[in-house]
Amino acid sequence: MRQELGVAITWLGHGTVLYRSEKGKTVLADAWVDGNPACPEAAKQLPPIDLLVITHGHFDHMGDCLAIAKKHTPDVVCIHEIAQYLEPKGVQKLHGMNKGGTQALHGLRVTMVHAVHSSTISDGDRILPAGEACGFVIEFENGTRVYHAGDTAAFTDMKLIGELYHPTIGVLPIGDLYTMSPHEAAAAAKMLGVKVVVPIHHSTFPALTGTPAALRSNLKGSGIEVLELKPGESA
Ligand code: NI
Ligand code: MN
Repeated sequence: MRQELGVAITWLGHGTVLYRSEKGKTVLADAWVDGNPACPEAAKQLPPIDLLVITHGHFDHMGDCLAIAKKHTPDVVCIHEIAQYLEPKGVQKLHGMNKGGTQALHGLRVTMVHAVHSSTISDGDRILPAGEACGFVIEFENGTRVYHAGDTAAFTDMKLIGELYHPTIGVLPIGDLYTMSPHEAAAAAKMLGVKVVVPIHHSTFPALTGTPAALRSNLKGSGIEVLELKPGESA
């Protein structure tokens, strides 16, 4: 772990991130691992997962949710509607919630915050509504706070998230097309007041054109660090 970050961050490719606290608690943010073409084979062997947080229902965030829930039996935090979907599928330890709420689990505090995106679940040939997309602010035992945005456009209430929760690390999508571009992500980082941005949701497919280099250039002179990871890499 890079000590000053206060938490170990492993990007598993696309929108999936593994966090490990100083005390060894593991949080998997979104569940696209085995089916994730950006995730290196070695990184697909997950450590035991204490907490799984789901930002929205799209397959590139929830595709391996049932398999991971079955294998690791983590506590699962998600929006009410996704919890309603997962419950009859046999997922245990479900903690459905909604935006503005905070839950304490495993000594961590998880706050569900807004995201500007859509949310559906593909179940076989059916497309089901999945409530709204969300992001999370995760506060680890040592007080380190990470804003894990999920898929979102930039929105001015990111300023409120900054004022209320003071995240120091923003894990932000930058790929463009389905989420923020580097241009929007730079504005997001400034509104949030974070010190470090970890860019995700880029480079998985050719259609995702936003790059960490473009984010860095958009943040030039801001004092905000772009912490670029490769899929499977940790900081
Ligand atoms: Ni999405
Ligand atoms: Mn996505």
